Amino acid sequence: MKILMVCLGNICRSPLAEGIFQKKVAQKNLGWQVDSAGTGGWHAGEKPDRRSIAVAKKHGVEISEQRARQFKQADFDRFDRIFAMDKSNLANILALARSQQDREKVALLLENGGEVPDPYYDDREFEPVFWLIDAACERALSRLLAE
Ligand code: 4NP
Repeated sequence: MKILMVCLGNICRSPLAEGIFQKKVAQKNLGWQVDSAGTGGWHAGEKPDRRSIAVAKKHGVEISEQRARQFKQADFDRFDRIFAMDKSNLANILALARSQQDREKVALLLENGGEVPDPYYDDREFEPVFWLIDAACERALSRLLAE
């Protein structure tokens, strides 16, 4: 299984989702691939935001080697599932879909239309966002394993 986590900048939320999901996958020895991207390209080539690196490290997840990149149409071919952090990201991804098959790969990471808020402008948001993503990844992994 190949999983792609997507947010806007690929520096705050989706790097956390990549690292957290990758850790859960590794703990279960599943051998799945996990990557992340941003619908915007402004931060391409950059490390994750230092606050995301710090909150991840605090909870035993290493994300400092990640580098941001922009989501591209070829990602529909390279990944089985594409998880968007919020509805805006979801709409941006779906706007690039070429087929029903592409569209069927895309979903929000949270259930029931929930969104992972962008923590960029508030330092205090990184801790709750970490746990929101952690819980969402746990549930997403359970759902995928039940398929
Ligand atoms: P992210 O947060 O989508 O969680 O990586 C953002 C980081 C930077 C910007 C937007 C969102 N930005 O516009 O620079």
